[in-house]
Amino acid sequence: MIDLKTHLESRVAATLGSLSDEERGALLLMPPKNRDHGDVALGCFQLAKLRKAAPPQIANDLAAAFEPDEVIESATAAGPFVNFKYRRSALAEAVVGGILHEAAPFGPADATGTSIVIDFSSPNIAKPFHMGHLRSTVIGAALGRIHRHLGSTVHGVNHLGDWGMPFAKMMTAYMKWGEQSELDANPMRYMFSLYVRYGQEAKNDPSLDEEAARHFKALESGEDNEERRMWQFLRDESLKAFQGPYDRLQVSFDHITGESFYEDKMAPVLKRYEDAGVLVESEGAEVVELKEFGIKVPCILRKTDGTTLYHTRDLAAVAYREAEFAPHRLLYVVGAEQKLHFQQLIAVLKKIDDPVAPKVEHVPFGLILAKSEETGKWEKFASRGGNAIFLDEVLDEAVANVRGIIAEKNPDLENADEVAEKIGVGAIVFNDLKNGRVKDVKFDWDSMLNFDGETGPYVQYAGARLSSILRKADAPDSAASLLEGIDWKLLEDAAPVLLTLHEFGPTVQRAAEQSEPSAVTNLMIRIASEIHSYLRDHHVLRADDETRRARLALVAASRKLLATGLGLIGVQAVDEM
Ligand code: ARG
Repeated sequence: MIDLKTHLESRVAATLGSLSDEERGALLLMPPKNRDHGDVALGCFQLAKLRKAAPPQIANDLAAAFEPDEVIESATAAGPFVNFKYRRSALAEAVVGGILHEAAPFGPADATGTSIVIDFSSPNIAKPFHMGHLRSTVIGAALGRIHRHLGSTVHGVNHLGDWGMPFAKMMTAYMKWGEQSELDANPMRYMFSLYVRYGQEAKNDPSLDEEAARHFKALESGEDNEERRMWQFLRDESLKAFQGPYDRLQVSFDHITGESFYEDKMAPVLKRYEDAGVLVESEGAEVVELKEFGIKVPCILRKTDGTTLYHTRDLAAVAYREAEFAPHRLLYVVGAEQKLHFQQLIAVLKKIDDPVAPKVEHVPFGLILAKSEETGKWEKFASRGGNAIFLDEVLDEAVANVRGIIAEKNPDLENADEVAEKIGVGAIVFNDLKNGRVKDVKFDWDSMLNFDGETGPYVQYAGARLSSILRKADAPDSAASLLEGIDWKLLEDAAPVLLTLHEFGPTVQRAAEQSEPSAVTNLMIRIASEIHSYLRDHHVLRADDETRRARLALVAASRKLLATGLGLIGVQAVDEM
């Protein structure tokens, strides 16, 4: 099977004559600014620099010397670029064959030896799982799948907030007012009500916070005491409660190592900073000053009462992950409101010249907004009516809405409940991953469930339409049978679909490099729309025999890549809807 890019690269290299390694590295292929100009563009800037010539000159010489072959139809210079055009039949063969055979980049790549740690979801347990955690969960899980697809070893970590003062407050509330039976009945809601009550009572009663601090100290003493047992109990209950949404979102973790995991790993870290002479006393606490990094707020690593903090545990976690996973990148998918926290974390690492510092990347994201019923303005979701949002209930609402739409549009659909679950949950995930991640997400049922909009259901529908054609044609399942004896010229008129499918590889690459799953989501929308236009103008089932077989292969490949792409972002394809 031909790989278009490899073929093009070697042809360019051959045309240019002998290339140094440096020059070879300077051959940068990119999508052309305008598709009418060609299928790929080669920017000649870097090569021109190495050869001490003007970029347009290099581009002209290369285009003039380039001879078309059975894969590449033409090479045209345009300023500092050379635009290449693939022969449509070669494009069809490479794309359709590549997808059906699951060859990389359409299928998963071989292991590259790259190790990526992704810290995501990481809710504070004993507090409700809120919409911000939904974003972290969905973005982090998508990045994990994307990196795995590219052959990396991914360590997905749930850095649960199961230690420190927030947890101590919950523990205090439960110790004072808790009832096991109420907890059993609805753990999430009950813990939330305790959390709210604590907040209210603590306003008038400062002794509550003192009590919580005492409990935390007792917990951190490492002794087997009531606090320890209570911690274990509340942690177990919370984890059980989170499992529901995680399962529905098809999210899993390689490691559930929360803040408590670092209980015995903080002392060596503190010692390192002490030995380096950068841990200084400030009003009884131990801090690292970060002024030279332009950060005014020092990073506190130990409080006056000797207890540790969120930062202390994050430092211990960095050291642990570095030693355990030898990562190339350490990603932290955490809301933009923790920007300072991660700036400080990185600066603290830099302060002692820790070589891990440049690998740490905060992957921030925007808020989820909902339209206020009173003001009509978009507001932070969680503030709606001052109530907490329970993720499970949001997922239920989505599924119920979809169930209603199906009842209307396709009342005879078998396993409608199962399909509604995939579409409803998928719509929320898709909506979350549609725009650049630092943008706020507007949470609006009508727009995210619109079957004709840029939505999950729209893309799932394109897949279902293709499945239906394959079913009606009784198309074979195996790649070999689908591809047997195809005349690729018969797919020359499918160039817009093929070119869009062909973008899959670079798009997934970009999504991984920039931690931007939206690149994949948007490609899926474009593929769906190209498929709809293709099917509007081309018959598959009613075409003559040879054309029908070629088109069926295209349909099967498109269906398959839609499922792969949706799968990467965490949305399931459906065969019927
Ligand atoms: N538990 C924190 C929160 O809910 C997020 C933790 C993110 N991960 C980390 N290593 N700091 O705000």
